[in-house]
Amino acid sequence: MENPTPVMDPKRHSSWDTDILIIGSGAAGLRAALAASERADVTLITKTTLTESNTHYAQGGIAVAMNLDDTIALHIKDTCAAGVGLCDVHAVEMMVSEGIPRVAELLDWGANFDWEGALPRFTQEAAHSRRRIVHKGDATGRETTDVLIQRVLNTERIKVLQSAFAIDLLTANDAAGREETLACYGASAVVDEALVYIQARATILATGGLGRIYPCTSNPKVATGDGFAAAWRAGCEMVDMEFVQFHPTTLYLDGAPNFLISEAVRGEGGELINIRGERFMWKYHEKGELAPRDVVSRSIQSEMELTGFPCVYLDITHKPAEFIRERFPTISDTTKRYGLDISVDLIPVRPGAHFMMGGIRTNTDTETNLKGLYACGEVACTGVHGANRLASNSLLECLVFGARAGTNAAIFAESESPDYPPDIPVVDNALTSVETDLTFVEAVKAATREVLWEHVSIERNGEGLRQTLAKLQDLTVSLESLQAASVERTVETTDAVGQMPSVSPVLLQTTDVELIEAVNMLNVALMITQSALVRTESRGAHYRADFPTQNDTDWSRRVLLTQDKTPEVIAL
Ligand code: SIN
Repeated sequence: MENPTPVMDPKRHSSWDTDILIIGSGAAGLRAALAASERADVTLITKTTLTESNTHYAQGGIAVAMNLDDTIALHIKDTCAAGVGLCDVHAVEMMVSEGIPRVAELLDWGANFDWEGALPRFTQEAAHSRRRIVHKGDATGRETTDVLIQRVLNTERIKVLQSAFAIDLLTANDAAGREETLACYGASAVVDEALVYIQARATILATGGLGRIYPCTSNPKVATGDGFAAAWRAGCEMVDMEFVQFHPTTLYLDGAPNFLISEAVRGEGGELINIRGERFMWKYHEKGELAPRDVVSRSIQSEMELTGFPCVYLDITHKPAEFIRERFPTISDTTKRYGLDISVDLIPVRPGAHFMMGGIRTNTDTETNLKGLYACGEVACTGVHGANRLASNSLLECLVFGARAGTNAAIFAESESPDYPPDIPVVDNALTSVETDLTFVEAVKAATREVLWEHVSIERNGEGLRQTLAKLQDLTVSLESLQAASVERTVETTDAVGQMPSVSPVLLQTTDVELIEAVNMLNVALMITQSALVRTESRGAHYRADFPTQNDTDWSRRVLLTQDKTPEVIAL
């Protein structure tokens, strides 16, 4: 069968080709680009600017077993203990051992981390049995991305496109004709307000997190869960989506934006006190302020309820002012802008959404269930974090699995025939210009955040989760009228051997970024709520008030979601 002729308005639609399409510019996407470019041409697209990522704002550091008293085995043990029985041990071993050369290479490339004599200055963070966090003051993420970005920009085979918001993955049945295998051939994106199809031999999703679906978060504005939602709509398997980590200490100050107060502040001796001036963490855990994050977050929540006060305080004032200034320059400067001097003032804090442990199910080669689609970093779930991530393991994960994704995607691209990917002719129904009601879209986003905070945050229960599902379904229906002009469109795809084209619906074909974000937020909220409802126990970051204990007999398992199927419970 002949390919249908694309009918496109070139002003609105264009179609580009690349070997490897990478979506996202945090540590995972950047590291993947560097690895892939050793074998292939790479196009890296990012939603706003190269520096807007969770990585860039990461304060704490990178956990790595390089200290003299540390071992790979100890790091694995701490990671698995934090993950409360749900970690994939093989993936953890890989992350921890390959993490050492990945960090060493970053140092070689010029990362200017803090040093003490001949070794990096390792700091302590919660639930680590050793001081093993390499860092650059409290701006480790910025240092890491600066080094990686510089290298990416200096690499000829990498083309970078900023303000390029990926909407949906381009999918079709496998070109080799294996009926049931769905394959990914790139993505649609909004670039300069136009809809663009970027066709790729292999695609890597490295879009980061979703903290912004909650009202209180450490994440930057871009973190609206776009990659999770696009993957889900495309047919990816999603796992562990009930496990959202709430960081215990985000700044709670009138007029101040969402801002993280690093765990390293507690690692360096910071104490948590309630409004009555009582130091409370010892009441809840033998490790006090250095208990696992989920425990500290729940303890703070409990103190806020007990005292009827909307925050607690972090006190680092017993440390010398000079030390504080040198060790935490970003926190010192930011809080100062809002009238706080943390060397003399208490820091008002409360928990905020920080990190998604779950995501697109991948193996340790970063392959997803879609042929040609790879995922790495926060959007992916290899199982390294289990039910709760150990502090500063996320940048390590990005470096290790980013590099693996880049290499594997490039090898895959090389192995396919020269005329791969098949043409993906686009049947364009011409964009109907929908005058999006922005106030309405913003109201949907706000309502999504509100209901998640109320029922699907630090503490959950069956009734609240069911109410949330109903509310999210209502909100989804209410957005449908805005999407209506877009959703009916289809992309027809045909395979290379001339079989009948399979038709995969492009779910979103609007160029309205706010509207796409709202849909993505609702999709992600739905996945988290559905998974949280299925897991009838408490473990790690998932706490069910109606099932408050851990149930290893029934729940040493994972919840798997695929769009349009009921959630499945699968073996580890
Ligand atoms: C922090 O600095 O507290 C965040 C580090 C992390 O999330 O691993």
